[in-house]
Amino acid sequence: MNVAIVTGANSGIGYETALALAQEGHEVVLACRNEERALWAIEKMRAVQDNLKLRFIKLDLSSKRHIDEFVIRFRTVYDHLDVLINNAGVLWGKYQLTEDGFERMFGVNYLGHFYLTQQLVALMPDSFSSRIVTITSMLYRYGKIDLEDLQSKKKYHRMGSYAQSKFANLLFAMELNERLKASGKKILSIAVHPGVVMSTNIVPNPIIRFLAKYIIGPFLSSAKKGARPAIEAALSNHIEGGALYGPIGLFEVFGKFGKSKRAHRYYDAKLAVKLWNKSEDLMNVSFSL
Ligand SMILES: NC(=O)c1ccc[n+]([C@@H]2O[C@H](COP(=O)([O-])OP(=O)(O)OC[C@H]3O[C@@H](n4cnc5c(N)ncnc54)[C@H](OP(=O)(O)O)[C@@H]3O)[C@@H](O)[C@H]2O)c1
Repeated sequence: MNVAIVTGANSGIGYETALALAQEGHEVVLACRNEERALWAIEKMRAVQDNLKLRFIKLDLSSKRHIDEFVIRFRTVYDHLDVLINNAGVLWGKYQLTEDGFERMFGVNYLGHFYLTQQLVALMPDSFSSRIVTITSMLYRYGKIDLEDLQSKKKYHRMGSYAQSKFANLLFAMELNERLKASGKKILSIAVHPGVVMSTNIVPNPIIRFLAKYIIGPFLSSAKKGARPAIEAALSNHIEGGALYGPIGLFEVFGKFGKSKRAHRYYDAKLAVKLWNKSEDLMNVSFSL
């Protein structure tokens, strides 16, 4: 039995990714922070196909304590994990700290997934079909990693912090692949980005979300299309570890699916190592493979 975890699987891109993996025969764990929303998503997926293997396990990425609880629950049911989709994300909002004292977007989008992956990687079989897929955004291009102010305490701009968290996702996915390779493991770590999908819930302001979903959304990618890079990265035999996949048409924001030619221009191996070390310190963990 192939087992997959999709974080933030109750809506948007995570929902479509979880549904597709389940339709391909995976047993999918919907790792979501809200039980009601997750069970509703399971019901909706079962209305599409009633024999899907789906399970909800509560996961709130904004706290290490909650991630630990998730991992304990996961391990009581499963002895291995084939696919981890680091999808959950938050965008915008006033400056907020997580329970662990991290800026919310950096804490949830990046550090929570860094720690979750560290906790789970030992359960993954040493095989090319074991995949860790991390969702970044085309905004990684505007992300600056300020190692002296990762929590944006000196200067906060919501898009700046979002972009920082998404650049951190990209650097993490690439650095993780380097480390997996160096340790002789076949597991692949891949970064993906969905393009622009305005029909999801990522925009928190209800008025802007309404306009984004129903006025602009129909002209842009659907959540289903936005999920394709994650689905391909999880399942295809023609995927390269350490690369970024997503739309490769106009500005690599729109168009057909493929491997990004731009990402390597932004990849800074030294910065990726520094960020990794800093993340280990912040999460008080040693992430060795
Ligand atoms: N939409 C786009 O155009 C776009 C572009 C580039 C990248 N992305 C990335 O794609 C991913 C999915 O976004 P989406 O557009 O599908 O948005 P979405 O519909 O808002 O989905 C985000 C998911 O993350 C979950 N989440 C938020 N905070 C969490 C936490 N603390 N712990 C666990 N789960 C949490 C949400 O749960 P709740 O329902 O409980 O809030 C929801 O399930 C994100 O990483 C986003 O940055 C999206």
